[in-house]
Amino acid sequence: MDTLFVFRNLVFGREAGNLVDVVTQTEIQNALKTVKYPGYSRDIVSFWLVKEISISNGAVSVTMQLTSANPEAAQRIKADAECVLKALPGVNQVHVEVRQPATGQPANPFSNQKGVPGVKRIIAIASGKGGVGKSTVSVNLACALEHLGARVGLLDCDIYGPSIPLMMGVHEKPTISAESRLVPPVAHGVKVMSIGLLLADDQPVIWRGPMIAKTIDQFLTAVEWSNLDFLLVDLPPGTGDAQLSLCQTVPLDGGVIVTTPQEASLGVVRKGIAMFNKVNVPILGIVENMSYFTTPNGERVEIFGHGGGREEAARQNVPFLGEVPIFTEIREGGDRGMPIVVSAPNHAAGKAFIQIAETLHQKMF
Ligand SMILES: Nc1ncnc2c1ncn2[C@@H]1O[C@H](COP(=O)(O)OP(=O)(O)O)[C@@H](O)[C@H]1O
Ligand SMILES: [Mg+2]
Repeated sequence: MDTLFVFRNLVFGREAGNLVDVVTQTEIQNALKTVKYPGYSRDIVSFWLVKEISISNGAVSVTMQLTSANPEAAQRIKADAECVLKALPGVNQVHVEVRQPATGQPANPFSNQKGVPGVKRIIAIASGKGGVGKSTVSVNLACALEHLGARVGLLDCDIYGPSIPLMMGVHEKPTISAESRLVPPVAHGVKVMSIGLLLADDQPVIWRGPMIAKTIDQFLTAVEWSNLDFLLVDLPPGTGDAQLSLCQTVPLDGGVIVTTPQEASLGVVRKGIAMFNKVNVPILGIVENMSYFTTPNGERVEIFGHGGGREEAARQNVPFLGEVPIFTEIREGGDRGMPIVVSAPNHAAGKAFIQIAETLHQKMF
């Protein structure tokens, strides 16, 4: 027996449960963390799919429980897991069992996640910097999901620059329920909450980080969201620490990154991806906004270049959700509280948002 073997048994023997085993539970677990759930950028361990690991004389047996009855996903996970486990030193036999639920059980890897009571899926919309159309995308996706028949809420986490009330055309304040909870106003069928609804006009927000975190926490726990399929969260612009800690405050099921074509090439998308990865939030995909402009005679002009978002998504191996054209009506609609999806669902821009919403809906249910 060589020294390394003895040493590893001494260090890991108890954990492995068997003195002759070189490989440990932790090593198995780490190897399984490299296996992604098919179609997601997130690994099977973070989805809590791995239920049991046993090791005996170099024979490794792993049991996983899927939350969706999806035979292709099960097969793929089994093959990928077997492949990484067989490559581990000290492993001579691998048995991976992937269980699937009987039909009628929840059909989604997200269903192991805790969240806000009454809210099925929480999705954050992020961007590398301000002005790329993050809030525009948030309001239009919210209205598009509503248009598709989902029950939707929209939470504005941009405490310093709340623009959701204006863009949704909400002027009334939330009311207080008999249970002392905030009842969000509804606009275009979407429940809306924003710091902008609570402050008097022109009152600047001078709060520091902890107060912001507290406010967001209240927005999740003290607001009567009740019975939503989707809660969209418009994050503050940027991908720094403040955004990161918000992603930890909000129990997110997924993140969408908004970019413009030129911003995509600046590594900003990569920062967004890194931010979501750090907090283990699955990246649902990238939206390229201000993608192109159509002249009145139908000519397509690519002001900021084109395809940057799609190319970057392919490079980073994350889904590309779609491109939204520049359209004056989008800005005007934003200023008068009438999202383009509501005012012109058949315009190319309205259609683009609805198609992105369809993709998101499919991904998450
Ligand atoms: N596709 C678009 N076409 C025309 N104007 C747009 C488009 N997307 C956003 N805008 C406008 O650009 C400005 C910035 O958008 P906004 O959504 O507030 O960005 P962010 O939330 O990223 O700061 C707003 O005036 C908005 O109406
Ligand atoms: Mg904004």
